[in-house]
Amino acid sequence: MGEQKLHNAIDETFSAIEPTLSERIRSHVSLLPTLKQFAHERENILLDLKEHSVLSGGKPAYFELWGVLEKHRLPTAQHCERVAGYVRLMGSYLDPLVEGNASLQHASRLHDIGKLLIPEYLLKKKELSSFHRMLVVEGHAVLGEFLCKYLGIDDPSVRNPIVYHHDVKDGYPHNLDKAQSILDDGTQRVIASDMQDSLVIGDLLSFADSADAIVDPSRTYQQHLTPRAAFERLTDITHKRGIFPQRYLDALDKVLLNHAEEVDEMYSKCQFDI
Ligand SMILES: [Fe+2]
Ligand SMILES: [Fe+2]
Repeated sequence: MGEQKLHNAIDETFSAIEPTLSERIRSHVSLLPTLKQFAHERENILLDLKEHSVLSGGKPAYFELWGVLEKHRLPTAQHCERVAGYVRLMGSYLDPLVEGNASLQHASRLHDIGKLLIPEYLLKKKELSSFHRMLVVEGHAVLGEFLCKYLGIDDPSVRNPIVYHHDVKDGYPHNLDKAQSILDDGTQRVIASDMQDSLVIGDLLSFADSADAIVDPSRTYQQHLTPRAAFERLTDITHKRGIFPQRYLDALDKVLLNHAEEVDEMYSKCQFDI
């Protein structure tokens, strides 16, 4: 895909989402061509994505796509892998919709794929201007949606958890009303019915994402915590903000009690030095 075509595709994606955000993110994207170093980096990434994106049968090659993430954004790939690990382990304490759910595993391993289109130096930088911070924080979700489209990830059970993994807890990039988007036991969602199943299980991805983000040693803006200390903090946040069902906390508690070795093993592979 040529540079102009890529920008047209990004514009098309942005114009389809909430206008204020489109405007804000669009201004970031217009900055990207001026980042010469990144133009080259992005070209290589897009080539790799193109090469590894589709299996001969026409289905997206999810594992190969994770490999592209691993090659170009190792800490992000490792974070995604751990999130998939939490989702898998928690699944055995939750309902059958989640346990062994292959689509949710694919979505978990690719949920931050949008970071491939954000310059690596911004992902590594300790201090970010509010401008760049928004590009990293909100922009990666928008760019993830763009990449789903670009890579032909249109199976809703994989695509929706990727696209909405921040809407559930942070309300971006689609500005879904949090009260509507959060499902608690017995609470009805007010969203398009074809998204409901994906979003219900997407909640779990979102929860696991938070569980790891609190521990993640590659996030330089926070102190390193053990998974158990992170759990205490997540419990606090969850109760204060009224997000996520209690059963997710209960499931994570069991995972930390009964699968401590596996959880330690997940963190032993991380890249600590960025
Ligand atoms: Fe994310
Ligand atoms: Fe994440």
